[in-house]
Amino acid sequence: MSPSTIQVTETARFLGAGSATATLTAQARELIPGGTSRLHYVFEPYPIYARSGAGCRLTDVEGDARIDCLNNMTALIHGHCNADVNAAVIEQLGRGASFSEPSEPEVALARLLVQRVPSLERVHFRSSGTEAVMMAIKLARAFTGRDMIAKFEGGYHGYYDYVQMSVLSTPANWGDAQAPHSVPSSGGLSRAVEQEVLTLPFNDPQGVERLLQQHGGRIAALLVEPLSNRSGMALPASGFLDFLREVTRRHGILLIFDEVIAFRVGPQGAQGRYGGAPDLTAFGKIIGGGLPIGAVGGRADVMGLLDPTRGPARVISGGTYSGNPLSAAAGAATLRLLTATQFERLDALGRRMREGINSIFRATGQPAQASGDASLFQLVPTDRPIENYRSIPRDAAATAWLDRLHQGLLRAGVIVSNRGLGCLSTAMDEADVDECLGAFEQAVAGMRV
Ligand SMILES: Cc1ncc(COP(=O)(O)O)c(C=O)c1O
Repeated sequence: MSPSTIQVTETARFLGAGSATATLTAQARELIPGGTSRLHYVFEPYPIYARSGAGCRLTDVEGDARIDCLNNMTALIHGHCNADVNAAVIEQLGRGASFSEPSEPEVALARLLVQRVPSLERVHFRSSGTEAVMMAIKLARAFTGRDMIAKFEGGYHGYYDYVQMSVLSTPANWGDAQAPHSVPSSGGLSRAVEQEVLTLPFNDPQGVERLLQQHGGRIAALLVEPLSNRSGMALPASGFLDFLREVTRRHGILLIFDEVIAFRVGPQGAQGRYGGAPDLTAFGKIIGGGLPIGAVGGRADVMGLLDPTRGPARVISGGTYSGNPLSAAAGAATLRLLTATQFERLDALGRRMREGINSIFRATGQPAQASGDASLFQLVPTDRPIENYRSIPRDAAATAWLDRLHQGLLRAGVIVSNRGLGCLSTAMDEADVDECLGAFEQAVAGMRV
């Protein structure tokens, strides 16, 4: 069946007693803590299990198709089984899955990234976004000789110890808005981490200025996700990223952009769309075309710390799968398809989706909004302006609202994350977006009864 002939229909088959999904869930929970290795995909009563994807549709193990507005947590910008991406992977697989030696796809992907993003002079590959962020922080520490890092409240950057701080803060522990507490967001972090992470308020230049005046001399890197989904996709206020550029330079701090998701917003990523000119950028997700990848790129003098050809490297790297040819081939094919025209299409589709959802929320009196930019959207349980992490209600009612909407959408044939994250792919057209909006209408109507 071709993608365009698959229709989504309302279904709750996965919830039925004795369904294939219920059986798989029971088996998985005996084998894997929580039933899956990705905490982000655990929700009540249990997730659907994917069997296959084609274009913008995903079919579950019950045989039910839905429109995929999550695309492996934003990684699949061309949707599932894109012909060019699959051909590149299959061609490479015919030559070998991975080697000890470097290979041509790694060089090709590096060239595509450096050509696209003006702040990249050199690039270095890893196997995940988490590893890319970890390497960027290590480079900054080695370059500056300082230990501390600064990050924004609510910013998610993967699960390296030093970024698992203040990701899940609550009103009970987050402290002063202008000087947020650094709150551990996972067990297993050394207490030293708490001492070495400064938490900053997003979109608050005075707050950032004051905190950096106090601690700036000890900080190696300031890490920012220009468009943070945990913060309701709060857009950086006009000039905020340029302010970060200026203030970090003044304090001798390296500015790191985390564009693991935000690289989706345009040909040169978030830095091309919102400004900021970082020293280093962490990438992941779309640059691997659906296969595991991460990359850090930036200034040649900083990246040069990884270079062992001019004396011993100052920062030691490794990774059996770093720069692996399958991911690099998929990533290069993905970037080649991402033309300016495709970004314009995605922008228009994203606008249509956000405006459509917002008019449904308004018409039905839901105090909520679809925020975001370009091909990204976030379902947020407030109709007030979103500036940062604290703009989002985090009480039980807000969580229950999102849970009901998420479940309603799943039944109506649309996949978003259980925290309201959604994104589009180039596999979609206006009719697909309108089909999603029909499902939104159904899901929201179900919330009123
Ligand atoms: C902004 C951001 N940074 C880093 C990461 C970590 O990337 P990965 O899951 O590939 O380790 C993620 C993952 O969702 C992310 O959204």
